[in-house]
Amino acid sequence: MNTQDQTDAHSSTTSAVALGVTGSIGAYKAADLTSRLTQSGVDVHVVMTENATKLVQPQTFLTLSRNPVTTDLWHIPEWNPEHIALAERTDMLMVAPATANFLGKLAAGIADDALSTLALSHEGPVMVAPAMNPAMWAHPAVQENVETLQRRGVQFVGPAEGITACGTKGIGRMEEPDHILKAIRTQLAGLRLRQAQQKHPFQRIVVTAGPTREFLDPVRFLSNRSSGKMGYAVAAVAAAAGHEVTLISGPVSLPPPAGVECRDVQSASEMRSALKEELGQADILVMTAAVSDYTPTHTSDTKVHRENKHQLNIEFEPTPDILAEAAASKRDNQFIVGFAAETEPTQQRAREKLQQKNADMLVVNDVNQPDAGFEGDNNEGTVYLKDGSTKHIQNCDKTRFAEQLLAMISPQSL
Ligand code: CTP
Repeated sequence: MNTQDQTDAHSSTTSAVALGVTGSIGAYKAADLTSRLTQSGVDVHVVMTENATKLVQPQTFLTLSRNPVTTDLWHIPEWNPEHIALAERTDMLMVAPATANFLGKLAAGIADDALSTLALSHEGPVMVAPAMNPAMWAHPAVQENVETLQRRGVQFVGPAEGITACGTKGIGRMEEPDHILKAIRTQLAGLRLRQAQQKHPFQRIVVTAGPTREFLDPVRFLSNRSSGKMGYAVAAVAAAAGHEVTLISGPVSLPPPAGVECRDVQSASEMRSALKEELGQADILVMTAAVSDYTPTHTSDTKVHRENKHQLNIEFEPTPDILAEAAASKRDNQFIVGFAAETEPTQQRAREKLQQKNADMLVVNDVNQPDAGFEGDNNEGTVYLKDGSTKHIQNCDKTRFAEQLLAMISPQSL
């Protein structure tokens, strides 16, 4: 029987975040971050240090978050001390901006104000977006604190390179709110996925992403429009949910996702070799890569010059179908997901492709649809399963799309 489920892009996405703001001029960007978080449906609870309140008024955060702002450890509105209540009420803590002083306190376990006390009592993920003068960031004392915190699982977003408020160029600027927002949303997606998969065993996931390049000569290649964003989102959310993730990526301009082992490849043939090495240990393979179907029969070692303006004919040969090969050698408990970007998607074509490739799941998206698929931040698609059922993932950002897709790979399907 054919069943079609609609997966709501916005259902059960409400999550709560404690946002710590410390005394760096980057605090003004935290106001923007609060606004964006609230707009994306996150319940934000701001905790400010005393120094932060000298740069931005608590009223600003109160208005943007629509929640009370905590500035004082000794203000106790309920029986439960505020830092404990906030730790219980929120899924994670992000400190943005995080000064050198705050990193030092957290590394040393000092809890002398509302934020540092919350940071020690929070049992969820703790993330920091440092902001300071480049000389301070480079100082061995700060770098040692960073190492200590990273070893304990604190996740760093930035700092970025650029001109800091003091006019110095170097590494120390707080990451842009967009970037921090993405890191928070990935973490929240991972937490929700972990909750949904509570009885799920720990898994090794291999993801392929991006385009491949098939070189004609050292300066020219055949490729496609894939940006890699879908595969990077799948890898990032899976890692945030606690899985061990390897990402095999064609050339893209995206930063490596946190907690993911990355392998860079260029051609279909390199992707195939890398996957052969990784597949044996994998429980799940998600092939989001837009692998080139053809490669030039001959690649010139030197640049091909324009000679006498003759018509140029290039001969191509097919590349191996990497997904079909992986499925042909798959173990009993391995699960393989394919992606198909189509310009004229039909149910019949999707079912034939799923069967031809012997994948367990095929995600089909219409690349002609505006605001979905190639290059964009959003996606929408229909998931075809082996039992003949389908599920539709409504238009949403690729982080949320990845979360919904991974949630469909239940223990029963393995
Ligand atoms: N794929 C692959 N190796 C190839 C081509 C595609 O592993 N040489 C994988 C892709 O990573 C994707 C799935 O197969 O997960 C479907 O890709 P798609 O391009 O839609 O399939 P093709 O078999 O190339 O069919 P088409 O003729 O529609 O391009």
